[in-house]
Amino acid sequence: MLEILHVVGARPNFMKAAPVMRALAGYGHVRQTLVHTGQHYDANMSDVFFAQLGLPEPTVNLGVGSGSHAVQTAQIMLRFEAVVAGQRPDWVVVYGDVNSTVAVALVCAKRLIPVAHVEAGLRSFDRTMPEEINRVLTDQIADLLFTPSADGDANLLREGVAATKIHRVGNVMIDTLVRLLPAAATCWETERLRPWQDRPYALVTLHRPANVDDPTMLGGLLSALAAIGRRLPVLFPVHPRTRQRLEDFGLGTAWPGLHLLEPLSYLEFLALQTRATLVITDSGGIQEETTYLGIPCLTVRDNTERPITVDMGTNILVGRDPARLQAEAYRILDGDVKTGCVPPLWDGRAGERVAAILARS
Ligand code: UD1
Repeated sequence: MLEILHVVGARPNFMKAAPVMRALAGYGHVRQTLVHTGQHYDANMSDVFFAQLGLPEPTVNLGVGSGSHAVQTAQIMLRFEAVVAGQRPDWVVVYGDVNSTVAVALVCAKRLIPVAHVEAGLRSFDRTMPEEINRVLTDQIADLLFTPSADGDANLLREGVAATKIHRVGNVMIDTLVRLLPAAATCWETERLRPWQDRPYALVTLHRPANVDDPTMLGGLLSALAAIGRRLPVLFPVHPRTRQRLEDFGLGTAWPGLHLLEPLSYLEFLALQTRATLVITDSGGIQEETTYLGIPCLTVRDNTERPITVDMGTNILVGRDPARLQAEAYRILDGDVKTGCVPPLWDGRAGERVAAILARS
């Protein structure tokens, strides 16, 4: 038996692990377990994703919850080490770039447990982003690195990672999107989405500390969104971090044209993306999803670890600049829309390619 232990912790991990686990389930000699670190714990940030993605119940939930980066990372390491002290998996698979990813990779590296990193090699070259630190460190200590695109391979090779460890498999997040698009379409019948099914709207997510932890920045962004809201309704499902900041800064009150919603499920958010006139985000995954769907995306960041979404896709980096955000949004609303194409290997089969490599390891 080949024992493979997957670790997830935060919302964007779930849609990446699901296709890999599904594909590995087809191999009779593979036994899989799933550990949830508990980095994200609200039902609408975690449970609903497990249900919609068809992820199995985790064998263990480490229940680490929120905290400073040091506290969260250290708690994950302490609690995860206890799990692998009792069993010795052949592979531990980690996903993306959240604190759970690097914490678990570090435990494995020290205990000489082989670790595979799915979504390796992405670089924003901005070390003020906690995710960039997580990516660089995880890739240095992983034994097997699965990249979504050629820029990932080039970044890893430049950092001295052996070519034999690197496998370009494509984008696992797109696997989940492809599989669940038909299910997402059924969400238009629900009470929450029905009002928007025949109306143009913009869809927004913002949660990066650089955008939401500073009152001047967050206030400026909300003013820009309100200006866009004068042209069409702006739907803004609010991440818990952002919700907290809106309250802290007294910014959470009425913004005309702006609809502040609770965090949405995977299927609801995907449905809304498919019909959005434009998407405004600082998320990584949403830059990829909009590129796949061909929906215009304005990314409120100075850089991106997913440059292929700009070079080939529909993504435009507007910087952390509310005036530019508003100007670019108005341009799209006036009909000047950037078109793009789907990057190679974003074909819904990346999870199968990961599984094939792991299963013969
Ligand atoms: C984390 C990831 C980020 C990812 C994001 C997706 C890191 C360093 N950051 O950021 O890369 O893009 O997830 O959502 O790993 N909270 C809740 N309920 C929850 C989870 C969080 O209320 O279920 C609140 C808490 O107040 C917490 C804050 O959100 O302090 C931030 O949570 P945390 O996991 O530290 O980081 P995210 O901002 O979610």
